[in-house]
Amino acid sequence: MISRRNFLSVSAATFGAALTLPPFRLNADESKPYQILAAKPGTAPLAGANAPPVKVWAYQGQVPGPVIRARRGEKIRVRLNNGLAQPTTIHWHGIRIDNAMDGVPGLTQDAVQPGKTFDYSFTVPDAGTYWYHPHHLSWEQVARGLYGLLIVEEETPPMVDRELPFVADDWRLNKAGQIDDASFGNLGDWSHGGRMGNWLTVNGLTDPEIPVRGGERIRLRMVNTANARVLAFDFAPLTAQVIALDGQPVSPWTLGAGGLRLAPGQRADIILDIPAEPGAILPIQEVSTRNPIKAATFKVAAGQPLRAISPNDPIVLAPNRLLAAPTLDSAQLIELLMEGGAMGGLRQGSIDGAMVSIEELVQKKLVWAFNGAVGMQKKPLATIPRGRTAVINMVNRTAFPHAMHLHGHHFRVVERNGKTVHGAPWRDTELANPDERVRIAFVADNPGKWLFHCHTLEHTAAGMVTWVEVV
Ligand code: C2O
Ligand code: CU
Repeated sequence: MISRRNFLSVSAATFGAALTLPPFRLNADESKPYQILAAKPGTAPLAGANAPPVKVWAYQGQVPGPVIRARRGEKIRVRLNNGLAQPTTIHWHGIRIDNAMDGVPGLTQDAVQPGKTFDYSFTVPDAGTYWYHPHHLSWEQVARGLYGLLIVEEETPPMVDRELPFVADDWRLNKAGQIDDASFGNLGDWSHGGRMGNWLTVNGLTDPEIPVRGGERIRLRMVNTANARVLAFDFAPLTAQVIALDGQPVSPWTLGAGGLRLAPGQRADIILDIPAEPGAILPIQEVSTRNPIKAATFKVAAGQPLRAISPNDPIVLAPNRLLAAPTLDSAQLIELLMEGGAMGGLRQGSIDGAMVSIEELVQKKLVWAFNGAVGMQKKPLATIPRGRTAVINMVNRTAFPHAMHLHGHHFRVVERNGKTVHGAPWRDTELANPDERVRIAFVADNPGKWLFHCHTLEHTAAGMVTWVEVV
């Protein structure tokens, strides 16, 4: 252990470099031009240097798309240029955003037609790690590579030497090493666990080698952008401390065996302390299946370490100020029964009040239901007066886990399977496992129409989507 003071003085020399910001930094100045995000077909070296480039859809020709950065409280201005052959939008996942900028076609805006543009302009109230992706045909558009990180900086960023993105995705590639087009829309995937991939990338690369220095302290900004797969990362033997989840600070804890699970859409901020072992090779493994695979590899530089002993004191992020604590005793209770899917025994479902048989639903590829209703309904799941606490009681009667994502708000789990949960982290996406009952609470302080859906994107498309209105 070195003293805080030593750490500060050692860091000073390298800190200038550490604070160098990527070129996409925005600023509050309204007169600044919009940052362009052009969505269009391209190629990316996903499968490695020896494999042919993979045909993707990308923002600004890169997968992941450019990192968008702002400081807390600043305005982000992005112009979407739709160079795709189908409509699209951008959703800013996890941002407690102005409803008109939330990017949900049919609810908050019209889908942006091919060749057209849309200007997004919004303030970011919370520091943290967020991401952006289309919300139209997202089961295809996200799977083809349309996503990127959105980073909101703290006013006083924590003392780290460097910040690294860790954008994880699993792709389904065919024998030719290209995106398996033929499997898009496959009802088997839609009614089971979603379209799982067979190829893991981090930052759009296969097992990238990331050069690091001994003794270096790194903040990893992780997101799982996979359509369907719950990923798990094991950093051992590195010491990894979790400092934020879904953008919101947590009391830091050190990851143990089994690593960190990230459901689709979830993020984590991790502090890694690189040992002072010149030349060491440190793989990060993906361990969600029985066959761990290398996700990325840190290679410690030869020669003089940055410092001899890692600073292993925890980093505590200041909480985002605007999150009001839910008041449970006067909460509005909203029931959400999750049904359907393979082995779910769904017989029928309703669409805007009209009953539809399962045969007909299968034709429409709508095989999941919330409270008996399949897919987007004209009426909201609930109307919540602004400022009131809402509790959603999610009951998963399906055979699959569902990563439930609420737009425009962060919530916390207050009860799981009948047991009260205290001090759960703020999240915008939470996994409800088969047979689980999970109660989440949030203060409905953001007016507008907010989607609530499973982030297994095939499940969204096949019925697991609803919305609440805050008035
Ligand atoms: Cu990340 Cu409604 O989505
Ligand atoms: Cu789901």
